[in-house]
Amino acid sequence: MSSTYVTDSVFYAGVSDRTLDLFESQYPVPNGVTYNSYVILDEKVAVMDTVDNRVSEQWFANLEKILGGRHVDYLVVSHMEPDHSANIERFARKYPEAKLVGNAKTFDMAAQFFDLDLEGRKTVVKEGDTICLGNHTLQFFMAPMVHWPEVMVAYESSEKILFSADGFGKFGAMDAEEDWAEEAARYYLNIVGKYGVQVQGLLKKAAGLDIQMICPLHGPILRENMGYYLDKYQTWSSYQPEKHGVLAVFGSIHGNTAHVVRKLAEFLKEQGETVEVLDLSRVDVSFAVRKAFYYDRMVVAGATYDGGVFPCVEEFLLHIRSKNYQKRTVGIVENGTWAPMAGKAMRGILEGMKEVKILEPMVTIRSVLKEKDLPALKEMAEVLAKSGS
Ligand SMILES: Cc1cc2nc3c(=O)[nH]c(=O)nc-3n(C[C@H](O)[C@H](O)[C@H](O)COP(=O)(O)O)c2cc1C
Ligand SMILES: [Fe+2]
Ligand SMILES: [Fe+2]
Repeated sequence: MSSTYVTDSVFYAGVSDRTLDLFESQYPVPNGVTYNSYVILDEKVAVMDTVDNRVSEQWFANLEKILGGRHVDYLVVSHMEPDHSANIERFARKYPEAKLVGNAKTFDMAAQFFDLDLEGRKTVVKEGDTICLGNHTLQFFMAPMVHWPEVMVAYESSEKILFSADGFGKFGAMDAEEDWAEEAARYYLNIVGKYGVQVQGLLKKAAGLDIQMICPLHGPILRENMGYYLDKYQTWSSYQPEKHGVLAVFGSIHGNTAHVVRKLAEFLKEQGETVEVLDLSRVDVSFAVRKAFYYDRMVVAGATYDGGVFPCVEEFLLHIRSKNYQKRTVGIVENGTWAPMAGKAMRGILEGMKEVKILEPMVTIRSVLKEKDLPALKEMAEVLAKSGS
């Protein structure tokens, strides 16, 4: 992508990547991803972060074009994760006059990642410190664990821009034609979701600033409706559901557990509920995690597998647990042919979660759904419907 104006003096130097198979070796990115980087041209010049080493050449080319021969005064390092920091060493060698701006933790990490003598080139900032570029002034706010401990954001007060690091990021290349909220939610909940408390801390700091634009490190620049985006982050970081409804996920080896869940979904619909059914064998877990946080209630159904639960169900539950899944009501459906154990395995993981109410009793199916099982299933649907927030 060629250089673009963000404003008259702020430029986009980032790169879209549509060839990546898995972001962080884990998340499918069907519409790609971007590594964002910005340049502020004023009396002094600041570059805001580097990019992943997959797109280094394009980034250096973008930078040269934007700089038009000017020297760089500062490289602001808001996050040391390699998708943003990979080019620090090469940048520092290419622009020897540039100082690196980070906090104490940033430079500790930089020393681990790079063999770079930064003597005389470090500008160490702490909470509230400012750097004046001329007309533009950057003020730094620490955002520990959003998404690593050294993360900091920068607020540019003349144009009221928040450089928000990974916060407000989204999967998808710049030209991806898709809703912001879904892919931003999948990004946030899977990547930063565990740290809701820390995100709330950052939102409190943001509330004290007049933000007219957000420049994140992934995905589009947010130029209007700031309230909408801040509101979404408020909801996600406080683990509030977005939708009154039931997510029904299942892991089924031969399809019988799937059939049970579809029947349960029918009963729930009869109760007037919104239900979404996901086959955990066939949907990537990152999408299922996003949906788990979307609804206020969930049914987890699993076939028994070698004395435990079918692995895709276990994997899903471990994922939502690590993302601090909470404040939800969950029903359990197990299936087994000779010694059903899936329910115990699922319950064991769910019990470790904060404010997760497990519905009693769970439903046990022996191999195939029979007429005799319907009352228990119907009852679970009724109890679930009553327990909605
Ligand atoms: C590899 C494998 C391991 C299984 N292990 C158990 C088990 O330990 N205990 C049990 O009761 N059923 C076990 N089963 C049987 C399934 O749990 C049972 O047939 C299944 O719940 C039926 O639902 P499904 O059609 O959704 O797969 C196993 C099945 C397979 C294929
Ligand atoms: Fe990150
Ligand atoms: Fe990132």
